[in-house]
Amino acid sequence: MRLSGAEVIDGGAAARLTWEVGGTARFHALWLRDNALDAATRSPRNGQRLVTILDISADTRIADLAVMADGGLRVRFAPEGAGASGAGETTAAGRTVEFPAAWLHARRYDCPTDRRPGRVDEVVETFDASLSGAVTRADFAAVSTDRGALAAWLAGVRRHGVAILAGVPREPGSVCRVAELFGYVRETNYGRLFDVRAEVNPTNLAYTNLGLQAHTDNPYRDPVPTLQLLMCLENTVEGGLSTVVDGFRIAERLRDESPDLFEALTTFPARFEYAGEVGVRLSSRRPVIELAPDGRLQAVRFNNRSAAAVTDVPFDDMPRWYAALRRFAEILEDPAMAVSFRLAPGELFIVDNTRVLHARTAFSGSGERWLQGCYADKDGLLSTLAAIEEDAA
Ligand code: FE2
Repeated sequence: MRLSGAEVIDGGAAARLTWEVGGTARFHALWLRDNALDAATRSPRNGQRLVTILDISADTRIADLAVMADGGLRVRFAPEGAGASGAGETTAAGRTVEFPAAWLHARRYDCPTDRRPGRVDEVVETFDASLSGAVTRADFAAVSTDRGALAAWLAGVRRHGVAILAGVPREPGSVCRVAELFGYVRETNYGRLFDVRAEVNPTNLAYTNLGLQAHTDNPYRDPVPTLQLLMCLENTVEGGLSTVVDGFRIAERLRDESPDLFEALTTFPARFEYAGEVGVRLSSRRPVIELAPDGRLQAVRFNNRSAAAVTDVPFDDMPRWYAALRRFAEILEDPAMAVSFRLAPGELFIVDNTRVLHARTAFSGSGERWLQGCYADKDGLLSTLAAIEEDAA
């Protein structure tokens, strides 16, 4: 990729760049100086920044710029004050740095921005029941030995927030081995892993044969575990189907049909708590639908078993908040939203617990249903995926 043109604008406060592939974008002088790639600004070894904002003059201007022979950009900044660290290419005339055209193109910020609340990242694709039969699926042996197969499986989690893995060794603890393929198990008061089967005097309703409404796990933690893995070791019962619903799709539907109700669930914090064990008093205060500061969907929390009394919604707004919660639950129960599957022994599913709700249908007392679960975190998964993708590029 090459630049075809570059001009100084706004008296040196910014530059306007044009690429040969088409497209124009402006960049501020301060932004370019802050993001310089030279060895005095960024460590060549680990890419970490060596300067602070205070090392960069607030009056930074572009003295001149040029498109280089390779199509990249050369910029000379002025002034480059005494505070700038490292000799680098700083001279009395100012600091000169170079940027590859593709690097700048990938980091354009002078573009029309979709500011609509409730939108999702480009890598995310929300789903409904039409994903049935098309959930990303892979084999344990393949993802354990083939980085490309692992990346394809992890990319499914990034895109849809759910994926299935088959052929996992039918041994207690295997679920943790799967988490270790891409990251780290997150240990909690439930242990490094937890058994999900009917128990006498259960500490959690998950450990019964009751059906469970679709939910995200552990909303009473802050931060929540961002991934959950559930592996089947035995399943000879009647019922006990696993179901997943995309909370982001629910949020989109709610926003489209009633912006007012959507706003209620994004604006006011709900409360969640768990105190089912001696010595454990977990609580959190977070909205049911959480938006990033720029309006993107960030997380969904929904769990009837651990919902606590909500006290952060003003009196006059409480009816609207309850109407919104009810509508969220109604959309959640719409069969057009659900993807169901029956886990066979040796199969596992992983969900993005900040987004995808999971449920199970009730099951009969005869036969055995034994699942093992563990938590892990999405940052590790995305990091592993990005590293494999970078190696492959
Ligand atoms: Fe759960």
